Amino acid sequence: MHPRGDVTNGVTCYCLFCLVTLNPHINPKLSIASKLHLLEKHSDKNYREREIKAMAFKASILFTVCVYALTASCLTAISGEESESKEFVLTLDQSNFTDSVAKHNFIVVEFYAPWCGHCKKLAPEYEKAASVLSSHDPPIVLAKIDANEEGNRELAGEYDVKGFPTIKIFRDGGKIIQEYKGPREADGIVEYLKKQSGPASVEIKSVDDATSLIGDNKIVVVGIFPKLSGEEFETFLALAEKLRSEYEFGHTLDAKLLPRGESSATGPVVRLFKPFDEPFVDFKEFNVDALEKFVEESSTPIVTVFDKDPSNHPFVIKFFNNPNPKAMLFINTSSEASASFKSKYREVAEGYKGEGISFLLGDIEASQGAFQYFGLKDDQVPLVIIQTTDGRKYLNPNVEPDQIAPWVKEFKAGNVLPYKKSEPIPEENNEPVKVVVADTLQDVVFKSGKNVLIEFYAPWCGHCKKLAPILDEVAISFENDPTVVIAKLDATANDIPNDTFEVQGYPTVFFRSASGNILPYEGDRTKEDIIDFIEKNRDKTAQQEPAAQHEQEPTKDEL
Ligand SMILES: *[C@@H]1O[C@H](CO)[C@@H](O)[C@H](O)[C@H]1NC(C)=O
Ligand SMILES: *[C@@H]1O[C@H](CO)[C@@H](O)[C@H](O)[C@H]1NC(C)=O
Ligand SMILES: *[C@@H]1O[C@H](CO)[C@@H](O)[C@H](O)[C@H]1NC(C)=O
Repeated sequence: MHPRGDVTNGVTCYCLFCLVTLNPHINPKLSIASKLHLLEKHSDKNYREREIKAMAFKASILFTVCVYALTASCLTAISGEESESKEFVLTLDQSNFTDSVAKHNFIVVEFYAPWCGHCKKLAPEYEKAASVLSSHDPPIVLAKIDANEEGNRELAGEYDVKGFPTIKIFRDGGKIIQEYKGPREADGIVEYLKKQSGPASVEIKSVDDATSLIGDNKIVVVGIFPKLSGEEFETFLALAEKLRSEYEFGHTLDAKLLPRGESSATGPVVRLFKPFDEPFVDFKEFNVDALEKFVEESSTPIVTVFDKDPSNHPFVIKFFNNPNPKAMLFINTSSEASASFKSKYREVAEGYKGEGISFLLGDIEASQGAFQYFGLKDDQVPLVIIQTTDGRKYLNPNVEPDQIAPWVKEFKAGNVLPYKKSEPIPEENNEPVKVVVADTLQDVVFKSGKNVLIEFYAPWCGHCKKLAPILDEVAISFENDPTVVIAKLDATANDIPNDTFEVQGYPTVFFRSASGNILPYEGDRTKEDIIDFIEKNRDKTAQQEPAAQHEQEPTKDEL
């Protein structure tokens, strides 16, 4: 089992797929195409001080995310680590960031937060890389900025920093900005940045050049041209410039130097080399968009494998970046049935090629983060789960190899009901504040005919802990009023219908009056204010007798 999150210096770092824990050589996902806003802009009001705006769980998957959590532990670790001697990494802040970037042709900036564990892991590696690269010709400058610092937050927002660490490459005085998509350990950083600071595409002049560029286990895009000029060549260079942070590019006048593919090709042709499925693909349409699409499509495996092998991890990241619905089969790859699963699953994936579903096969041993995220249990393995673009999930637990194809077909036909993550329904619920889980949300909140104040919380959230005793008091003061319910739901362990409750931070408190009027609670987090709010917004018509206890019947119509 892998750690499901580490808590250091008051920070919870979730490593969803534990890629970073397994291996620092991978390209952790740095920018998340989602609504994840770790850098919540704090406004004056109390309720705005939400610790995190991270309920992007509906739409996307993260790999490494540090989020705020106010645990009082290990504050010592910070002070222990700060006594470094000479620093090669430049420290920037809002006063000199713009100038520093403008002064450099090529500068790398890490946006970090002091509490983020992944940043702390990166720091010595980044520093070591900076010292090596300081003697590169020309020197390559590495800088950092504390994006958590009040004064720097606006900058971080401007550059769309959504998780920590986020590293960006600024070229040409800041006119061109790219995501850093390289490794996070010193040698890897050095190698990646040397390549990034050189030309976007390198000329292949010998078999040795070709061998060292292309290798066996990465995606490399090579242009074969009759001459190194002209429109096609320029188009290819523009593509290389655009995608350089993600792929390596080369060009050559001589296809015979290349390890695979037709050696008599004279071009112009783009040949993509890859370590899975067919070992190379040619493409001849020379416009940047078509080429980009070609590169994206050909560089996605038919079945992405997620296991402990680090060379697979960049593809896992690609898989989750992809906007398609995602089918994931989780099995125990060491079990006897695994070969049969693999071949059947691959058949299914091949059958849906070009139909906009991406397929991943995950090993249960490597996927604990995913299990927690989706609310899955080991005893449901082998299982298939499909996550659609709108965040819905469809689950087929304890599946047999032969059942996958028909089930995916049913899914495509719209005949499968969504699956909802829920904690078990509590057997006892006698505390003043009632525990609600996804499977009881309908009954307690929507169908009870009562006035319900519900708090969406995260177990690690400090503000939630502060609010808890206050809610207790509120609940106690309504104890003799059966028409008012004070409830709480652990939003990290239960799916919430987002069209009703927009939960983007913790705690989020909503009120639903007996007649169905839904309001966010945005007042001060005091007993008096909350009670006033309830009194003001409640319906007096609420049904008086206690509603029947619904013990089960998970509702399937809400997600
Ligand atoms: C930017 O300003 C901060 C705060 O004054 C300072 O600590 C830092 O060294 C400066 N960095 C550069 C590159 O001038
Ligand atoms: C996977 O299967 C192997 C071989 O049957 C077994 O030893 C191992 O415990 C299984 N792992 C899990 C997580 O079930
Ligand atoms: C809520 O989820 C639906 C799909 O379930 C999605 O289309 C919509 O954008 C989400 N709304 C918000 C406010 O996040």
